[in-house]
Amino acid sequence: MNPKLSFAVVAAAAAVLLATGLFAETTLVPGVSPGKDVVAVRKYVMVTNNANLRDIRLKLEAKKSLDVVSNGRSMAASAMILPFLFVDAYPDAYPVPGSNYAYKATPMAEVQAGAELLNAQCQKLVNLAGQAAETAKQLDRVKDACRDCHAKMRTDVK
Ligand code: HEC
Repeated sequence: MNPKLSFAVVAAAAAVLLATGLFAETTLVPGVSPGKDVVAVRKYVMVTNNANLRDIRLKLEAKKSLDVVSNGRSMAASAMILPFLFVDAYPDAYPVPGSNYAYKATPMAEVQAGAELLNAQCQKLVNLAGQAAETAKQLDRVKDACRDCHAKMRTDVK
């Protein structure tokens, strides 16, 4: 790669890192990745959920409700794997720079229920995409699923 181009690539990568804030640098490997990596990944998934909600809001404001399909699928995909990320609390991994939140160890059945609710509400959102008013209403149900889970499982770092 020529030096000018590679500088541009590095600069672009740095801009993406800054824009995303919390960034997980590793891919999780079962039985190998340390707890701090698992925590970094679950926070990254959550921050991505937030970005999806914002993107959906902007699309609805722009009267493009059909375009929320990819956001709904992205959040549903995260919901499908969430329980794997909450098997252990990893209290020693906190506090994480840039975040005031932690995971409060919760029985797996409750984690599963919370993840399934988010998955179901996101699938409904995908199915309603294109119908502006229904999509906007369903977005509130998706947010309720986020809030339910946070009330039970998320805590502030002291
Ligand atoms: C299965 C439960 C569950 C669901 C569903 C869920 N969250 Fe979370 N969320 C958590 C937990 C637990 C934490 C704290 C994780 C940690 O600190 O390790 C968290 C953290 C967060 C954070 C803070 C990240 C940080 O540390 O700065 C954001 C933002 C967030 N969630 C957004 C969302 C949004 C948006 C949705 C819905 C689209 C959602 N979450 C759905 C459990 C959930």
